[in-house]
Amino acid sequence: MQRITISLLLLLSGAAGMAQNPDLPNDFLSKEFHRQRREALRQKLPPRSVAVFFSAAVRNRSNDVDYEYHQDPDFYYLTGYKEPQSVLLIFKDKQKAPNGGLYDEIIFVQMRNELMEMWTGRRLGEEGVKKQWGIDNAFGNKEFKRYNLDFSKFDKVLFYDFKNDVRDNPRDSSDLADLITQFKQKANYPDPARLPVNKEEKNNLDTRSLSPLMAQLRQIKSPEEVELVRKAVLVSCQAQVEVMKAMRPGMSELEVQGIHEFVFKKYQAEDVGYPSIVGSGHNGCILHYEENYKPSIESKDLILMDLGAEYRGYTADITRTIPISGKFSPEQKQIYELVLKAQEEAMKICKPGTSFADLTQATRVTIDQGLKELGIIKEGEKHMYYPHGCCHHIGLDVHDKGEYNQLQEGMAITIEPGIYIPANSNCDPKWWNIAVRIEDDYLLTKDGYDHLSALAPRKVEDIEATMKLPSPLDSFVLPELPVKK
Ligand code: GLY
Ligand code: MN
Ligand code: MN
Repeated sequence: MQRITISLLLLLSGAAGMAQNPDLPNDFLSKEFHRQRREALRQKLPPRSVAVFFSAAVRNRSNDVDYEYHQDPDFYYLTGYKEPQSVLLIFKDKQKAPNGGLYDEIIFVQMRNELMEMWTGRRLGEEGVKKQWGIDNAFGNKEFKRYNLDFSKFDKVLFYDFKNDVRDNPRDSSDLADLITQFKQKANYPDPARLPVNKEEKNNLDTRSLSPLMAQLRQIKSPEEVELVRKAVLVSCQAQVEVMKAMRPGMSELEVQGIHEFVFKKYQAEDVGYPSIVGSGHNGCILHYEENYKPSIESKDLILMDLGAEYRGYTADITRTIPISGKFSPEQKQIYELVLKAQEEAMKICKPGTSFADLTQATRVTIDQGLKELGIIKEGEKHMYYPHGCCHHIGLDVHDKGEYNQLQEGMAITIEPGIYIPANSNCDPKWWNIAVRIEDDYLLTKDGYDHLSALAPRKVEDIEATMKLPSPLDSFVLPELPVKK
């Protein structure tokens, strides 16, 4: 275990070539990566077209507090830029600037503002974007209104259609809501509020093609991305190990979540890739249970922990299900072994050329057969306690953009079968409230896969052995709070 920890730390200390800033980690993707991605998209764009991307919206949490900002993954992939209120245009062909120069991409970004930076954080501004992200044609977002581009000259203007869910800040005339309004005017977007919508009306606006193009790019991970996915997965695995060691009946679900998140943050992962799922007993039957409120987990129960760290934007997605007592009951073990078998059946065929549907089918057939043998379902019943798919891409999104046809070298995917038997199900009550998901992450190689999450114990005997190990948290005992009784 010691060796694993040291090698993990060594791996995590590798830098990926950015100017040193002591306030920031030094292993973000390089500007060259993002430049190449923009070029790769340009190659895929149809003739005489432009692709327009908007940064993610700032969302209000309550009153004057916003949710922590997270950049739109496509925008991040193409730029590296993590601030809001911005728009990026990528052109198939060179455009002529008023000064006669040629350009094929342009970005309008949040401007420097001393007062706002004191309140909400540093901004790169247009000069910072040029320097840090190598996008030479960078302007303040106020300039977008005056940007005189004739969108009607393009055969296609590609963008994601708007969901009309962006708040306008009346004190900012170039926030995202304004940039969208300005774009709609420039591109003659048939806004239902302004114009009667004529479904037959022909225009050059294309809201469908960008998603498949971005999926084709993002589904194959470059070596730089693989390194970050690996780190996200490794820190998430080590956090699962630490949770297994620290697990005790009587802990709260929130405490378990806290241990996982503390460990991955100790390894410098910045965030969760999705809300942590920690469900003990019947809570495990809620597939995306995020409340994690049960104050005292019970010795008799399993606990399902679907937890993934985000590391420099890339997320892991790993589920371990373990007995809170440290030992599986016979029924828990039978269900667990069946889910494990389903996962291993899918792993046997996990290689380029296999389809996502083949993987799903392998897990379903195994689970249906096993549940029949255990007398939990009857002949002819299918997928009763396995209601979800088994695999998806991971990357900048936990359910990453990608096609769902054949596996290809360079894809990063999950395999995650599960069985969930809620109370009052039509089977022997001894199976009730058993919920098991086992989820691992894989990188597709030339002839098979690299099991990225193998560090997190997965077999019954390995889980039970890990849970017997001492935890540094055993001696972390907090005092009672001085609350009046
Ligand atoms: N954590 C979400 C999922 O497994 O797909
Ligand atoms: Mn998943
Ligand atoms: Mn998951």
